[in-house]
Amino acid sequence: MSRELSLAEIFQLGYYWETKILLTAVRLDVFSALDGKRKTLSEAADRIGAHAPTLELLLNALVAMRLLEKDGDSYGNSMAAATHLVRNSGQYIGHLLLLHDAEWDNWGKLEQTIRTGQRAVDRHVFETDPELGRNVLAVLHRIGQQSGPDFAKRLQLSEPVRFLDLGGGAGTNAIAFCQAYPELTATVFDLPATLPLTERTVKEAGLESRIALRPGDFNKDKLGGPYDVVLMSDILHYQDFATNAALVKRVWTHLAPGGRLVIKDRFLNETGTGPAWTTAFAVHILINTERGGCYKTADAIQWMGEAGFQTVTELEPSAVVQGVKGYEA
Ligand SMILES: C[S@@+](CC[C@H](N)C(=O)[O-])C[C@H]1O[C@@H](n2cnc3c(N)ncnc32)[C@H](O)[C@@H]1O
Repeated sequence: MSRELSLAEIFQLGYYWETKILLTAVRLDVFSALDGKRKTLSEAADRIGAHAPTLELLLNALVAMRLLEKDGDSYGNSMAAATHLVRNSGQYIGHLLLLHDAEWDNWGKLEQTIRTGQRAVDRHVFETDPELGRNVLAVLHRIGQQSGPDFAKRLQLSEPVRFLDLGGGAGTNAIAFCQAYPELTATVFDLPATLPLTERTVKEAGLESRIALRPGDFNKDKLGGPYDVVLMSDILHYQDFATNAALVKRVWTHLAPGGRLVIKDRFLNETGTGPAWTTAFAVHILINTERGGCYKTADAIQWMGEAGFQTVTELEPSAVVQGVKGYEA
C-alpha cells in the first residue's frame, strides 16, 4: 500500500502556473531572444515584440524557475535553457512543449468530455497540423536514438530480415534496426506529410540504400511485402479497438510464414491503474484524439490471436507484445 499524500502534495498536483509560464515563454520564443549576450528588459521586449513591464513579470518568474538568470537589470539563459530551449540549438525540445500548448484548449474541455463521453477533437495532431507533427517527431527521434539500438538487439532477429516500420514516423526504429542488423532492409510506411522528415533522417544516417519510404494510410493503402518483421511502435493508441483489430489482421496477411508482428506501445495494467504515467497518458489520448485509447496487453494479445498468429507473447511488461505467424498459414 503506498503512503497517503500530504496536503502539500495535493496542492502540487493541482498547480499548473509554472507549466503555462514555461509554455508561453516557448511560444514567445523568449529563450532564442535571450541567446548569447545578456539583454536588458527593453532589448528583450523589442526582440520578442512584447510589452516590457508585463514581460518583466514573466522573465522574473522564469528566473525563479531557474530557466533564466538575472544580473542587475539584464537577463540571460541558464545553461539548460540555452541547450534545450533556444531554437537553433541541436538539442532544442521546444516543439514538444509547443504541442502541449496547442493541446491546452482541449484540456479545458476535459470536464465536458467526462460528463458526456463526447471527444473534444475530430482528428489527431498528425492530421490537423502536419508541420507541428513533423517537428515533434524530430524531437522524439533525437530522444529515441538513445534507446532504439538496444530495443532492436533485444528482439534477436536472424538475418536477412525484410522489416516494415508501420507508422514509422521519423524512421527512428528503422534506422536503429538497420544499424543493429547489417543485412536488414526496411520500409517505413507513414502518412505522406510525415515522410519528408523521414527522408532527411534516413539520409543523415546514410541508409538511403537500405530504407525505402512508402506513403499512405495504413488502414487503407497497400502495405507491400511480404515482410519478416513488422513493427507497430506507438501508433495504435491513436485508433479505436476495432480499427486496431482490423489493422493487425491486415498485417498478418503481409507477413511471410514464420514472420513476426511486434507491437510496442504504452499498455495499461490489468486494473487500468498503472503504470502511473500511462494512466495520465490515457486521459491525454481521450482528450486529444477522436477515437484513440490506451489499451491493455490483453487487448493486443486478443487482436493477434483473432488475426491468426500462432504464438503470442508479452516480451516486455506493459510495453512489447509479439505474435509469430505459423509456417502452415
Ligand atoms: C507517435 S508517432 C510514432 C512514430 C514511430 N513509430 C515511433 O515509434 O517513433 C505515430 C506515427 O503514426 C503515423 N500515422 C498516424 N496515422 C497513420 C495512418 N493512418 N497511416 C500511416 N501513418 C499514420 C504518424 O504520421 C506518426 O508518424
